[in-house]
Amino acid sequence: MDNPKRYLITSALPYANGLKHIGHLAGAYIPADIYVRYLRAQKRDVVFVCGSDEHGTAIPIQAAKEGTTPQAIIDKYHEAMKQDFADLSISFDIYHRTSSPLHHETAQAFFTKLNDAGELELKETEQYFDEAAKTFLADRYIKGTCPNCGSDRAYGDQCENCGKALSPEELINPISTLSGSKPIKKKTTHWYLPLGKHEEFLKKWILEEHKNDWRANVVGQCKGWIEGGLQSRAVTRDLDWGIKVPVQGADGKVLYVWFDAPIGYISATKQWAIDNDKDWRPYWEDKETKLVHFIGKDNIVFHCIIFPIMLKLHGNILPDNVPANEFLNLEGDKMSTSRNWKLEMRDYINDFVKKDNGGGQMVDALRYYLTSIAPETKDSEFTWKGFQTAYRSELSDVFGNFVNRTFVLMHKLCGGKVPVFHQDILDENDKTIIAEFENTKGSVQSALEYYHFRDGLFQVIELARKGNQYMQKKEPWIVAKQLTENPDAQKQIDNCIYICLQLCANLSILINPFLPNTAKKMLYMMKVVDKMLEWENAGKLNLLKTGYSLRSPEILFRKMEDSEIDAQIEKLKSGLTKETNKKVEEIKNTTAKSEIVYDDFAKLELKAGTVTACEKVEKADKLLKLEVDLGAEKRTIVSGIALRYKPEEMVGKQVVVVTNLAPRKMKGIESQGMILTAEDKDGTLQLLKPENLVAPGSNVS
Ligand code: MF3
Ligand code: ZN
Repeated sequence: MDNPKRYLITSALPYANGLKHIGHLAGAYIPADIYVRYLRAQKRDVVFVCGSDEHGTAIPIQAAKEGTTPQAIIDKYHEAMKQDFADLSISFDIYHRTSSPLHHETAQAFFTKLNDAGELELKETEQYFDEAAKTFLADRYIKGTCPNCGSDRAYGDQCENCGKALSPEELINPISTLSGSKPIKKKTTHWYLPLGKHEEFLKKWILEEHKNDWRANVVGQCKGWIEGGLQSRAVTRDLDWGIKVPVQGADGKVLYVWFDAPIGYISATKQWAIDNDKDWRPYWEDKETKLVHFIGKDNIVFHCIIFPIMLKLHGNILPDNVPANEFLNLEGDKMSTSRNWKLEMRDYINDFVKKDNGGGQMVDALRYYLTSIAPETKDSEFTWKGFQTAYRSELSDVFGNFVNRTFVLMHKLCGGKVPVFHQDILDENDKTIIAEFENTKGSVQSALEYYHFRDGLFQVIELARKGNQYMQKKEPWIVAKQLTENPDAQKQIDNCIYICLQLCANLSILINPFLPNTAKKMLYMMKVVDKMLEWENAGKLNLLKTGYSLRSPEILFRKMEDSEIDAQIEKLKSGLTKETNKKVEEIKNTTAKSEIVYDDFAKLELKAGTVTACEKVEKADKLLKLEVDLGAEKRTIVSGIALRYKPEEMVGKQVVVVTNLAPRKMKGIESQGMILTAEDKDGTLQLLKPENLVAPGSNVS
């Protein structure tokens, strides 16, 4: 859409069930914030909304894990996430929450309008039911094997591994995550949104109208969905946590979280309008509004297929674009909360941002790196070394260095003031760099308009690099030694410094959407007001007036020590983030046994051994039969670790064995010892093993 009247920009509402990591930040928040800051600099009418997604089974599940109520969980994580976003300079106009009464009303009215118009179907079906827990098993209450990728981390709504949206019926070997039991089927009634009815609309709207301006990965996923046949999707659930279905007699039923959450964008806009004395309606009803959803790839189907159908039926505008990002990996592996392989925003804030004294340079450092590796077209990877290298060789050595040199030389060679600009003696180098001001403005602008944030950022850094090269060619510090013999020397110095200063001013405008804290610091050095950052000022050669005195340079990017980076790698690898420590504490508290004396402990004989063979025990889901080399002997051991480890991955692993336990028979096999494991609160097991390989038979004490 060219020249829209106004913009409504959304970032996916994060679930209020835990702190969010940098993968989330890179996917849906930083790009949106860059875009919004750019639009604001353009003086466009723009509203940027987000908030916490506080419904769905994820919330009560987390509450059970933490031994508290769903309400306590959402209150805690809503505040925590809001703070984290603020600490990382994500500039929402409103950060709302879906538990608010305004949202409940809005979502219910939305449902009622569709239902009254006959756009929903009421159907009775058989659904999985947990007899022990006496509840239907929706979404994350049911787990099984993914029919798409075979992973066992597939839930009733989506596979954690491949991201495919699922329904409980599609799961292979479904089990209840509440009781671990096998569910039965029971009749129940629900409202469905018949997606199939809208196939022609979707085909035309996405596969024709947006086939070129939407990202290929987004169009590709939609195509797969549409061509795979669009099934009706239930928009209600049998649950007690959520927004009540606003229909007489629908007790115990709530709106499906993916029905209510995107409506959260609308209720957030309403709340923003109330707070700011504005009208929310045009943002959702006027065709001249450009609506853009920033999300991660696991949310594509909801934002490109289901929610647009809802919006269309409800009489709202449709998104103009949905620039979804792929996933961000961390140090060679997928980010995962259960395996504790992640970098939480909060951890970064504590370790880097808090020590910054509010200057925000470490906020910008993270924003820089995450944008430079943004998974715009394919998965990408965060590494601490990569972070350090980008920081040092681009931010600090190119951008920071150029600004610093300019200011130092201005104080040294031009008396701390913006020098006179002598048009009459401009040479080719001057003209070339001046032309770059406009060029770069144009290329950054078009990159941003097309959501190519990495590219936009590189263009800005490239301009700073050209600034350095220009200065290197002009060598004003050498020219300064020729003041007596060269009558033009001072003029040449003036021109060089003048141009470099104007370039600094331009760089602050161009970098501002990406690194707002850096731009702010530059404004301070240049003694100019925020207004200078308006986009229309980019490209100009007279932003700083001749004779104006400027401050001394500030360090834009401090030195980053190897030790800081090494410490992070160490922290990640040891898995000992505060989360784990907390969990360890909880486990200790729940399993405390009475005190024993050393002699009691010494009765145990513990040895390290190496697994030399391993197979499944027939007719026993949980058991593996292992052959363990203990140096002097080999033993057969039966262990209940089959749900966690495959036989083939056990061979070659070292384990710790209790070797003087009386043998006992399991499924007809004599087990001659016991293997030690650690069990997480959620029941996942891990082997205990020596940090490095030891000789089989080594004593453990
Ligand atoms: N909470 C969802 C997630 O984290 C995203 C919801 S986006 C919204 O995957 F559109 F529903 F709000
Ligand atoms: Zn899968």
